[in-house]
Amino acid sequence: MAWAMKLLYIFLLLCPFSHALLSLGNTINSTDELALLSFKSMVSSSPPSLPGSWNSSSHFCSWPGVVCGRRHPDRVVVLRMVSFNLSGHISPSLGNLSFLTELNLADNQLMGGIPGELGHLGRLRLLNVTRNHLDGSIPVTLGGCTKLKVLDLSANRLQGEIPWPLDSLPSIKYLFLYKNRLSGDIPPSLGNLTNLQNLQLKENMLSGAIPSSLGMLSSLSLLSLGFNNLSGPIPTSLWNISTLMLLSVQHNMLSGTIPPNSFNNVPHLQVLYMDTNNFHGPIPASISNASSMVDFQLAHNYFSGIVPPEIGRLRNLIFLQLNWNLLEAKEPKDWEFITALTNCSRLKILGLSGSKFGGVLPDSFSNLSASLTYIDLEDNQISGSIPGSIGNLINLQILALDINLFTGSLPSSLFRLKKLVVLYVDYNNLEGAIPMAIGNLTGLMIYCSIQMPLALQYQKHLET
Ligand SMILES: *[C@@H]1O[C@H](CO)[C@@H](O)[C@H](O)[C@H]1NC(C)=O
Ligand SMILES: *[C@@H]1O[C@H](CO)[C@@H](O)[C@H](O)[C@H]1NC(C)=O
Ligand SMILES: *[C@@H]1O[C@H](CO)[C@@H](O)[C@H](O)[C@H]1NC(C)=O
Ligand SMILES: *[C@@H]1O[C@H](CO)[C@@H](O)[C@H](O)[C@H]1NC(C)=O
Ligand SMILES: *[C@@H]1O[C@H](CO)[C@@H](O)[C@H](O)[C@H]1NC(C)=O
Ligand SMILES: *[C@@H]1O[C@H](CO)[C@@H](O)[C@H](O)[C@H]1NC(C)=O
Ligand SMILES: *[C@@H]1O[C@H](CO)[C@@H](O)[C@H](O)[C@H]1NC(C)=O
Ligand SMILES: *[C@@H]1O[C@H](CO)[C@@H](O)[C@H](O)[C@H]1NC(C)=O
Ligand SMILES: *[C@@H]1O[C@H](CO)[C@@H](O)[C@H](O)[C@H]1NC(C)=O
Ligand SMILES: *[C@@H]1O[C@H](CO)[C@@H](O)[C@H](O)[C@H]1NC(C)=O
Ligand SMILES: *[C@@H]1O[C@H](CO)[C@@H](O)[C@H](O)[C@H]1NC(C)=O
Ligand SMILES: *[C@@H]1O[C@H](CO)[C@@H](O)[C@H](O)[C@H]1NC(C)=O
Repeated sequence: MAWAMKLLYIFLLLCPFSHALLSLGNTINSTDELALLSFKSMVSSSPPSLPGSWNSSSHFCSWPGVVCGRRHPDRVVVLRMVSFNLSGHISPSLGNLSFLTELNLADNQLMGGIPGELGHLGRLRLLNVTRNHLDGSIPVTLGGCTKLKVLDLSANRLQGEIPWPLDSLPSIKYLFLYKNRLSGDIPPSLGNLTNLQNLQLKENMLSGAIPSSLGMLSSLSLLSLGFNNLSGPIPTSLWNISTLMLLSVQHNMLSGTIPPNSFNNVPHLQVLYMDTNNFHGPIPASISNASSMVDFQLAHNYFSGIVPPEIGRLRNLIFLQLNWNLLEAKEPKDWEFITALTNCSRLKILGLSGSKFGGVLPDSFSNLSASLTYIDLEDNQISGSIPGSIGNLINLQILALDINLFTGSLPSSLFRLKKLVVLYVDYNNLEGAIPMAIGNLTGLMIYCSIQMPLALQYQKHLET
């Protein structure tokens, strides 16, 4: 025991001395250096670039990822360590870097919570910790970073509610909280963040209604709320945000209609995802006013009525997915939208499956954009023959015509479709032989119902 006490005594004696020796000529008297060293002590990286290169052989202002100010040469203004493969925890001491304007630790493997001390950073304009493994809740204190323009906490494991007072971030332009485990309501006070341009809350567990106050965000161009558990309607005020380019609410429990004039004030809207919800009612003719539309997805809802021919005025349309609704066509005039769509020369994807489309496809069908790669008409009540000139759609890769009432034989022009890889024609009333040209379509898979003569003939064809 006595010798152990002696050892301890010697250690205590030597320790301060050795410390002084080590720090000779490099007295740490800067808060910022202390804060950085504390940060360093709580992380490691692999390969071990960080702890190694942040050492006393150079001033901390020249450490990798650290930028000091021009007017305040000893104060850290930027800490940017994107994809440094850092693991460990974020040190609360970063809250002492009081001149910090940018903190970007994106794309690492940091875990634990976001320290509330970061809320002391009154000069911070950018805080980005996307793609880490951070958990816990979003600190309420972040409301103290009143200069924030960019707050990106996405792709972590954050829980709890979206806290207040995040609405005290008057300058915020980009607020990304997507891909976390946030729950509770979308706070109505977000509508007070008048500079907000991009609000991304998708892929969380948010519930309740979309607050109508979001309609006050007059600079908003991207609003992404998909893959949550939101209910109620899309507030009419949202259709009044004339700067909107993307509105995505897919995969929620939303209901209600698209009011008649909804598309009159969204001239820049390029992407509208409303798929997989409980929306009902018609697709309004005012859609023609959303003239920038590129990607229009309404699948898996209860939309009804005819598809308005006005949709053909969306000249930039590439993706049109209306699958699995209650949309209908009975008479030739109900198919006018197909003729109108022939003007959409960029159209690549056309999904009309699982609805109540009946009657005969118009001849103009073959005049649809030659850019089309995918046409899905599965599970409707379409009768008559498959348009003879369908071979004009030379870029088709997937064509699904199954579960309909098509009659006649497969048009031989089908086999001009050199890129076709999947052709579904089963569960129809088709007959006749498979055109011999089929032998030229290498890689094609045809799905026919086994009860049907067509399939038998295909079998025979394969055997010969
Ligand atoms: C420590 O602080 C003093 C007074 O502020 C300053 O003169 C000195 O240069 C500083 N030393 C270091 C190593 O930063
Ligand atoms: C940060 O500042 C607080 C209070 O000013 C102080 O107690 C703490 O020691 C500092 N931490 C570091 C690592 O500098
Ligand atoms: C990142 O670190 C992990 C271990 O923490 C290691 O397995 C991986 O290879 C590293 N990745 C890179 C790109 O260095
Ligand atoms: C100290 O950091 C420099 C780069 O800043 C590096 O070249 C050197 O190898 C490091 N020294 C140690 C002992 O890790
Ligand atoms: C955050 O940083 C990552 C990596 O640099 C980047 O991909 C992402 O766009 C940034 N977020 C914002 C909102 O700028
Ligand atoms: C917006 O801010 C005003 C003034 O601070 C406040 O009265 C109002 O309740 C806020 N709106 C919302 C939706 O929180
Ligand atoms: C979604 O919200 C409903 C109530 O609106 C609730 O009954 C249900 O459990 C929620 N689902 C999930 C996955 O949170
Ligand atoms: C949409 O904007 C118009 C004109 O700015 C306004 O009269 C109307 O009340 C707004 N509608 C909604 C639902 O906010
Ligand atoms: C397009 O918008 C204008 C102006 O708001 C409106 O008068 C017109 O009726 C709209 N078009 C359609 C087809 O609803
Ligand atoms: C296609 O556009 C032209 C020019 O705007 C127009 O005259 C024509 O009626 C349109 N065709 C269809 C089928 O809508
Ligand atoms: C298809 O387009 C061709 C060439 O533009 C035109 O002559 C023909 O009338 C169109 N057919 C239909 C059915 O619209
Ligand atoms: C199959 O391709 C060959 C060579 O390209 C061509 O000569 C032949 O006419 C084609 N057969 C049919 C039935 O299209």
